[in-house]
Amino acid sequence: MRKYRKDYQPSSFLVEQVDLRVELDPTDTVVTAAMQVHRNPEAPAGDGVLVLDGDELELRAVRLDGVALSTERFEADSQSLRIPDVPERFELETEVVIHPDENTKLMGLYTSNEIFCTQCEAEGFRRITYYLDRPDVMARFTTRIEADCAKYPVLLSNGNRVDSGDLPGGRHWVQWEDPFRKPSYLFALVAGDLSCHRGSFRTASGREVALEIWVEPENIDKCEHALASLRAAMKWDEDTYGLEYDLDIYMIVAVNDFNMGAMENKGLNIFNSKYVLAKPSTATDDDYEGIESVVAHEYFHNWTGNRVTCRDWFQLTLKEGLTVFRDQEFSADMTSRAVKRIQDVTRLRTTQFAEDAGPLAHPIRPESYIEMNNFYTATVYEKGAEVVRLYQTLLGKEGFRKGLRRYLETHDGSAVTCDDFREAMAQANGRDLQQLERWYLQAGTPVVRAHGDWDESAREYRLTLSQSQRVFGEQTRPLPLPIPIRVGLLGSDGKDLPGASRTLELTESEQTFTFEGITERPVVSLARGFSAPIRLVVERTPAELAFLMAHDSDSFNRWEAGQDLSKRVLLGLNEDVLAGRPLDLGEDLVRAFRNVLLDPALDGSIKSLTLTLPSEEVLAQELESVDPDALHRARAFATRQLAAALRDEWTAAYRDNARGSDAIEKAEIDRRRIKNRALRYLTSLDESDTTARARARVRGAAGQAAEPGGG
Ligand code: SER
Ligand code: ZN
Repeated sequence: MRKYRKDYQPSSFLVEQVDLRVELDPTDTVVTAAMQVHRNPEAPAGDGVLVLDGDELELRAVRLDGVALSTERFEADSQSLRIPDVPERFELETEVVIHPDENTKLMGLYTSNEIFCTQCEAEGFRRITYYLDRPDVMARFTTRIEADCAKYPVLLSNGNRVDSGDLPGGRHWVQWEDPFRKPSYLFALVAGDLSCHRGSFRTASGREVALEIWVEPENIDKCEHALASLRAAMKWDEDTYGLEYDLDIYMIVAVNDFNMGAMENKGLNIFNSKYVLAKPSTATDDDYEGIESVVAHEYFHNWTGNRVTCRDWFQLTLKEGLTVFRDQEFSADMTSRAVKRIQDVTRLRTTQFAEDAGPLAHPIRPESYIEMNNFYTATVYEKGAEVVRLYQTLLGKEGFRKGLRRYLETHDGSAVTCDDFREAMAQANGRDLQQLERWYLQAGTPVVRAHGDWDESAREYRLTLSQSQRVFGEQTRPLPLPIPIRVGLLGSDGKDLPGASRTLELTESEQTFTFEGITERPVVSLARGFSAPIRLVVERTPAELAFLMAHDSDSFNRWEAGQDLSKRVLLGLNEDVLAGRPLDLGEDLVRAFRNVLLDPALDGSIKSLTLTLPSEEVLAQELESVDPDALHRARAFATRQLAAALRDEWTAAYRDNARGSDAIEKAEIDRRRIKNRALRYLTSLDESDTTARARARVRGAAGQAAEPGGG
C-alpha cells in the first residue's frame, strides 16, 4: 500500500515502557513483551481499537492488565494485532515465537555465523514482536536475554547491563536497561561467542565511558583503528558542537551479514565487519578512512537521530542528511578538507546526479512510498547532506552551530520533522529560511548558468546568474530555489581581487550581481567549495581553465578547473574516435598537468586527485548517447599520452615518494597517493621496467596501494 507524507496522523496510542524477555534459540525464539500503553491525548479520538504492527510472528498469548484474552477479544494476522475496546491506560503483554535461522531478510532478529543480531530500521522491530512500530512512538526499554551459556556467552542489548544470572539446563540471562526513550527502530540485541576490544573515553564533563568493540575471537587484533576513530569522533563532537555522549557504555559489534553499512542502535551499534576490521597488512588508506567515517557517522547519530529522531520515515533525511554532513565535516577536520570535499562531490556526481536525472528521481524528503527500504538512497543521504550544508553556507559556521544547538535543545527526546529543523535554524539566527523548503519539495539537479561582463569605463563587473529545474511530467512547474554561490574574482596575477570574494544568494530565476571598482578584466571563480548541489554552466576558454587550475585560491575549484579541462579534451577525443580521426592530445592538458605535478605548494593527495582524469561515468553524463567502448579508448589514449609526455616527471614523483612508513597519518597518506598515481600512469605505458616496479610494489605492499577515486 502506498503511503503519503500528507496523510500523517499521530499515533492513537503511545507506549511508556516496554519490558522484553527474549528466550533465544536459533529455530524457535520466544519473545514476551510487556508494554505500558495509554491513549495519545494529541491524537483524534479514533475508534478505540489498538492496532499493533507485526510481520511473520506466531502469536502464543495476549494478556491485558494481567488477564489472558480469549481469541474472540482480538484479531491477529500476519500484519497486525487488533484489540478493540481497550481502556485509557493499560498493560499489554504478548508472547510470540520467531525463527531467527530462517530469517533471510536480515530484518528483525536473525543469525549470522552463529551470532544472533538484529536490524530494526526501518520496520524490522515488528518482526520481533507486535508493536507500534513507528518512529514517533518513543518508549523506555528493558531487555532480558536468555540463552545457552556455552554457545552464547555474550548477551548484549541497549543501555546499561544491570543484572545477570544462571538458569537450569546450561542457560544464563542478562538484564539490560536503557534509560533514554527511543523508537523501536533503535532497538538492538546481540548474542554469541564474541571477544571484546576495550577502551575508554573521558567526556568533557569528566564522566568515564566504557568503549567496547565486540568481534569474533579471530578478529580481535583488527579493532584498534575503529576504537581510535570512535574516540576521535566523541572528542570532535564535544569540541565542535558541545555534544557529549550520554550513557556509561558504548558498544560496537561487527557481523559479516549486514545489509546496511552500519546501524546506530542506542548504545549498541551493529556494523558490517568491513567498517570495523582493519590491520596494516591488509587494509588500504581508503579502508581506514572508510572505517573512521562510518564509526563517526553512527556515533553522531546518538544526537542527530537518537536523542532527536524522525516523526515519520518521510523525514529520513532529517537524521541522515544531517549526520552525513556531520561525518563529512569530521573527516574534513581529521584528514584534508580539500581532498574530502573533492571525494564527496565526486561521489555525489556519480551516484546522486544520476539518480536525480533518471526515472527514480525523488526529493530528499519523498512525498510517498510503497516500500520504505527502497528510500535509503543517495538522494536522501548525499544530496540531503548538501542541503544541510546550504544552511552552513548561508548562516556561517557559528550560525549553523547555534541553529543545531537550538534544534537539539528544543526537540530533545522527541520525534520531529525537516520543517522543525529549518525553523530552529531560522529562529536561532533571526533569519527567514522559508524558501529553503523548496529544496525538500523538488527533485532534480538544478542547472545554474553564469555569464559575466566587465565594463571598463564603469569599472564594474556584472555577473548574471540564472537557474532552471527539471520538470516532472504533469507536476506543477518547479519554483526558483535559494542557491548560495560563493564567488571570487581573479586578477591577471592569479590573486583574488580584494573585496570581491562573496557569497551571492540566487533566489530568483535570473539575477545580476554587480562588483564595483574592478579595474581589470577578471577571471571569475564560481560556486567555490561546491557551494550548492547544482550543475554549473559557464563559457570558459581552455586558457581560462588552465589559469584557474594554476591559480584559484579555492582548492576545490582548482581541481574542478582541471577536471573541466580534462573533460573537454576527453570529449573531443571521444568524437575523434567515433569519427575515425587520428587522435592527438594537444598541449594544454600536458602543460597543466606538468604545472600541478611540479607545484611544491600542493600536497600529494590533492596532486593525485587533480591528476586523475574524470571517470567514464562522469564523462558519460555529458553525452546524449554513449558509446562505452569509444569513451574507454579515448580515456586510455589520454592516460598513455600523459604518461609518455611526462615520463621524467612521473618517474621523479615516484622515486621521491617511494620510501616512508605505513603510518596512517596525513603526510604518509599524501606520499603514498602521489606515488601510486605516478606508478599508475607509468604502468599504462606497458613497458617492462615500470610494470616490474608495479609488481614489486604489489608484492611488497603493506596494503597501502589503493587510493581515492580509482584509476
Ligand atoms: N541508519 C543507518 C545509517 O545510516 C542505516 O542506513 O547509518
Ligand atoms: Zn545514518
